Amino acid sequence: MVNLRAWGFERPQEGSIGVQFETLAELQRQGLIRHLGVSHVTVAQVEEAVTIAPVVCVQNFYNVAVRGDDELIDALAAKGIAFVPYFPLGGFTPLQSGTLNEVAARLGATPMQVALAWLLRRAENVLLIPGTSSVGHLRENLAAAELEIPEEEMGELEGIGAVKQGAGDRA
Ligand SMILES: NC(=O)c1ccc[n+]([C@@H]2O[C@H](COP(=O)([O-])OP(=O)(O)OC[C@H]3O[C@@H](n4cnc5c(N)ncnc54)[C@H](OP(=O)(O)O)[C@@H]3O)[C@@H](O)[C@H]2O)c1
Repeated sequence: MVNLRAWGFERPQEGSIGVQFETLAELQRQGLIRHLGVSHVTVAQVEEAVTIAPVVCVQNFYNVAVRGDDELIDALAAKGIAFVPYFPLGGFTPLQSGTLNEVAARLGATPMQVALAWLLRRAENVLLIPGTSSVGHLRENLAAAELEIPEEEMGELEGIGAVKQGAGDRA
């Protein structure tokens, strides 16, 4: 599985990815790559990629506080394409949110577990790859898959992205 990671730093930049994705598609035809994905891409770039070769996943910056890809996730789910949020825990600036802390305390979980469980509940095509250098965090993150978030708490968490979309909630 190989992702084509497009350009742009904080946000994906528009522009054709045709030449680059065609190159990966040719390697796939040669049997050198099994599956193809695209990363850090705009909706238009996803639409372009699927005309060239099957896309199994899209990997973009997304988490409970950064919600720019809400519509894209739903569109991908309808097509059976996985969405892999990168920086699911905030990456270099880990998620900090009073709401996250309160919900976590109520559910007897950690804030990061709630952030991961929220992503898993967000859509059925979400696939998680949280990064960690700690075995303790790895165990904690795996356990998040079992955490059920009730409807009321889902509503509260929804507010994190609504208040400061794209910048994180640092209340
Ligand atoms: N396609 C792209 O452009 C792109 C860009 C960025 C990242 N990615 C990929 O996305 C994946 C995730 O990215 P990431 O690892 O940078 O970001 P992340 O998963 O959002 O955050 C990782 C950070 O969260 C901390 N953390 C993990 N579990 C925790 C826990 N249970 N409690 C508290 N802190 C916790 C880690 O610290 P500890 O080590 O102390 O646990 C680390 O500092 C990686 O596979 C990465 O390669 C892709």
